[in-house]
Amino acid sequence: MRRGECGEVFKIFLVSRNEGKIKEFRGLGVSECVDVIPVSLDKVEIQSDDLALIALYSAVQASLYLRDVFFVEDAGLYITSLKGFPGPYSSYVYKTIGVEGVLKLMSGVDDRSASFESVIVLHCPRQGFKVFKGSVRGTISFEARGSGGFGFDPIFIPEGHTKTFAEMDLETKNTLSHRARAFRAMVDWLRTAYKSQVQEI
Ligand code: IMP
Repeated sequence: MRRGECGEVFKIFLVSRNEGKIKEFRGLGVSECVDVIPVSLDKVEIQSDDLALIALYSAVQASLYLRDVFFVEDAGLYITSLKGFPGPYSSYVYKTIGVEGVLKLMSGVDDRSASFESVIVLHCPRQGFKVFKGSVRGTISFEARGSGGFGFDPIFIPEGHTKTFAEMDLETKNTLSHRARAFRAMVDWLRTAYKSQVQEI
């Protein structure tokens, strides 16, 4: 991690092509004094039941091209009554049956509980790979609501709220999302590592 040109702002690379994620991470970075710089790389995404394994495999591939401090994230929506589906297959399910398809699978289902899970894998040239996780519980709405965010945001209502993620502004989603929790855990770790006089992380 390098000190940026503007005082205490740090720079860190994010390997992703997902515009929704990039926007959220950049917003999270601003509130944590971290300049998140998106990098687009060709990589293969493996299939696994374990988000951490998918993210780790992506990070290892990216480390062949990128020698600096960077992170990748893999995330998914886990619906209790569907035994965790779509989970690690969320991206594929979103592209195929989409939000309306998931609502159809949930029609007549009383247990609407679900969670979003995020796994970040951080790569540090000296210290290798570190895994950070974040999650948020909530419920699946009965219809799609809102136009903000991305992916399954229009059908996810975080616990303690009445609006879906897509009805919230970016700042509000960033106070409580799975992604925000994983990101803050990573930033806390980076600050501690940096402060404890680790010369290069
Ligand atoms: P991946 O992490 O890029 O593999 O994407 C996982 C998929 O999960 C995305 O394409 C979205 O459909 C869904 N997803 C992950 N995080 C979120 C979120 O914060 N809001 C809505 N959908 C999400």
